[in-house]
Amino acid sequence: MKVIIRDNGKEASLWVAHRIADAINAKAKVSDKPFVIGFCTGSTPLDTYAELIRMVKAGEVSFKNVISFNMDEYVGIPVDHPESYHSFMYHNLFDHIDEPKENIHILDGNAPDLAAECESYERKIVEAGGFDLFFGGIGEDGHIAFNEPFSSLQSRTRVVTLTEDTLRVNSRFFGNDMNKVPKQAMSVGVATVLSAKEVVILALGPKKARAIKESIEGPMSHMVTVSALQNHPDGIIVLDDDAAGELKVNSYRYFKAVEAAEAR
Ligand code: PGA
Repeated sequence: MKVIIRDNGKEASLWVAHRIADAINAKAKVSDKPFVIGFCTGSTPLDTYAELIRMVKAGEVSFKNVISFNMDEYVGIPVDHPESYHSFMYHNLFDHIDEPKENIHILDGNAPDLAAECESYERKIVEAGGFDLFFGGIGEDGHIAFNEPFSSLQSRTRVVTLTEDTLRVNSRFFGNDMNKVPKQAMSVGVATVLSAKEVVILALGPKKARAIKESIEGPMSHMVTVSALQNHPDGIIVLDDDAAGELKVNSYRYFKAVEAAEAR
């Protein structure tokens, strides 16, 4: 696992945007095959998406040959609800980039058969060629996508029940009323994320510091599902200084030293 630490959230977010753009451009140079990416929602990716939009407008990257799959969606929320992840993605990314609409995949939380929708999502990911890169955030409880504590590290796309913790944290988007947050969601599994060739996790702010410490320095555990990244050959965790705040001093220095050595 690689850990990149930047002084602030903006710099960490730009680092991720450039990593994504570089990966898309690198594949386009050697292959006509589409670049397949996993996208996340939440507060964390906002500056990364803003930078990707800027880069598309500046002609520095194109999403014309990119296929995307979002990691999760609430169950039973109208697609045009302002807090649906459909709305979030169109508003914050898809409306402003050149990714063809037919290449955009987001789980349908209103599908008549949710289990069938999850199975078909996994199938479509395979048919697209599998993920080149998965971009994710991390929950305060260490979840990756909506893989709450005690989710199997072998899990695949399925319906999940959100924990009290997540309902509380996400209530900020629903008028601070936990009862308005959908209790269930559909989410790619931990194994779905880990199937990507490269996984890039961005964590910003002091509220993520404990989960980051546990996922990087703790044992791999279903209690902190991001910790499964320890078992991935090409996992990168990108942090601002606040999210790195609970790492041991020696870990912090180690990651900084590795990065400095690789830059030489
Ligand atoms: P956040 O959510 O970016 O809004 O903090 C991340 C997550 O819950 O995975």
